[in-house]
Amino acid sequence: MTEIQTLDTLDYRFPPKPKPLTPEEKQETVARIKELLKEKDAVLVAHYYTDPDIQALAEETGGCVADSLEMARFGRDHPAKKLIVAGVRFMGETAKILTPNKQVLMPTLDAECSLDLGCPPDKFAEFCDQHPDRTVVVYANTSAAVKARADWVVTSSMALELVDHLDAKGEKILWAPDKHLGGYIARETGADMLLWQGACVVHDEFKAKALNDMKALHPDAAILVHPESPENIVAMADAVGSTSQLIKASQELPNDTFIVATDKGIFYKMQQLQPNKTFIEAPTAGNGATCRSCAHCPWMAMNGLKAIEQALETGGKEHEIHVDPELGKQAMVPLDRMLAFAATLK
Ligand code: 13P
Ligand code: SF4
Repeated sequence: MTEIQTLDTLDYRFPPKPKPLTPEEKQETVARIKELLKEKDAVLVAHYYTDPDIQALAEETGGCVADSLEMARFGRDHPAKKLIVAGVRFMGETAKILTPNKQVLMPTLDAECSLDLGCPPDKFAEFCDQHPDRTVVVYANTSAAVKARADWVVTSSMALELVDHLDAKGEKILWAPDKHLGGYIARETGADMLLWQGACVVHDEFKAKALNDMKALHPDAAILVHPESPENIVAMADAVGSTSQLIKASQELPNDTFIVATDKGIFYKMQQLQPNKTFIEAPTAGNGATCRSCAHCPWMAMNGLKAIEQALETGGKEHEIHVDPELGKQAMVPLDRMLAFAATLK
């Protein structure tokens, strides 16, 4: 039997965050990045979990701030010669696979993801080989090699619809790597899903008892939950969805207050769109307990303005994403399928 790594068996260290900049340093760095983006024909593509300064800069310079599906789409369709992807490594790799002729830079190549780390390609291939009767569906939060082994790639914004579609055709699914997202999809669709047992170090830490206590203090608040969270947290949600779907829910639900179970980087966009609403972080620790990530992705937090400036200035190998061309071609197939399927959805 394949040995599946879980958060408990996974060996990783949380990386250091970038040194905070003084207001003057920040201003100078932002101005220089703006020049460099023009000079180098580059565009900044940032995830909702990155530092608010990076999100603001992406917006101001005609880049994009988005969930992982939209980041992939934007990078593929934008005419710029270079993409600078602020997020975690699988996002940069996805951009490179979809646009092999563009140079893809990242502030740091050390920005990992516990889901990607917890799904080593060799072990995953063994797992797939043991279940040849199943359609292999993997989450975008995986390495290029894992994607290359898959029939489909999905993001959380279209995973339910795709699995529903495959289930209706009578297909049985092998799902990796997030057990919580996989469990949520299986419950919602009733599909036959065999789950890899990975988890996100951020969402896995939300606690139902503490969330209940928080809800008692804010009885009129709506609870927004990313489906990488455990089942008992999802069960308490007023809306479950990808980062962009949660932002939409915060605009559409009538509540004035929201308890949000996802990385707090998302508050920048929520607060920008709904300045009069109140957003509260869902609790990651009960009384006396400790949290490791404390609702902030340690790898997303590695993205800093100085590193963006340096990546654009030098384009050096500590910033440039490379994907083996043969592997990239194989991984492009399920990624293209994902984008084509997503385009059929409203
Ligand atoms: P989204 O696709 O919802 O942006 O999620 C990416 C992610 O890494 C969530 O932890
Ligand atoms: Fe990965 Fe979780 Fe960070 Fe998202 S929040 S990038 S799933 S570790």
